[in-house]
Amino acid sequence: MNFLEQIDLSNTPKHIAIIMDGNGRWAKKQGQERLVGHSFGVDSVRATVRAGKNLGAKYLTMYAFSTENWNRPQDEIEGLMNLLVRTIAGEVDELNATGVRLHSIGDTDGLPLDCQEELIHAIEATKHNTTINLIIALNYSSRWEITNAVKQMALDVQAGKLDPEAINDELISSKLNTAAFPDPELLIRTSGEHRLSNFLLWQCAYTEFYFTPVLWPDFREDDLYKAVLDYQSRERRFGMVSEQL
Ligand code: FPP
Repeated sequence: MNFLEQIDLSNTPKHIAIIMDGNGRWAKKQGQERLVGHSFGVDSVRATVRAGKNLGAKYLTMYAFSTENWNRPQDEIEGLMNLLVRTIAGEVDELNATGVRLHSIGDTDGLPLDCQEELIHAIEATKHNTTINLIIALNYSSRWEITNAVKQMALDVQAGKLDPEAINDELISSKLNTAAFPDPELLIRTSGEHRLSNFLLWQCAYTEFYFTPVLWPDFREDDLYKAVLDYQSRERRFGMVSEQL
């Protein structure tokens, strides 16, 4: 029996977040430049979207570029940005053919102009698709996002538009870039690293984490199915005891 057939499709995560890691190590193992790893990583994104659709997932959030990634060598940053622009521009027809709606989270104003333009175009061109939402985190950092939300609320309090007593979980969630999406039930990180790296800190309060040694360019449909099978073997208690569930 293959992995997909073992999955209970009535209990799959609707939102899966992924930290795509290990492109550089994968490239090094092949004796290639780091960028080759990023480039092959795009095939893994395609495979993940296909698998996500087979699982009936509605949201896939993928960490493509963190605020900290600006500290990488300049040629890698430029190559990665080029790859993102080319991929986004080249993929619009396919996204439309397969019902994928594109979104972005992060400080996209800080991206190169051509990248911003392609992104805005692709988001607009796919906005009527309903099968699955692909959310790309670009120039994203969770602390940046939370800091912005806090500033916005502080300004509203100062202007007399917000009562501090009205600040609660829901209000804070509504001020984040992810306001339109539910929290992820499952977060996957590849390449054997066990960190959140400033990704969706608020949103992952009750998220199940799954770590795999697979390097991102090797990640395929079955790797996602294995993660979901592992997720289904767990009991999500949300602070309660088993008997209350
Ligand atoms: C981490 O590997 C990966 C990245 C920083 C980039 C991920 C981006 C892509 C796969 C392109 C995605 C494209 C779209 C359209 C979503 P790393 O370089 O940190 O690997 P290492 O830890 O082995 O050095």
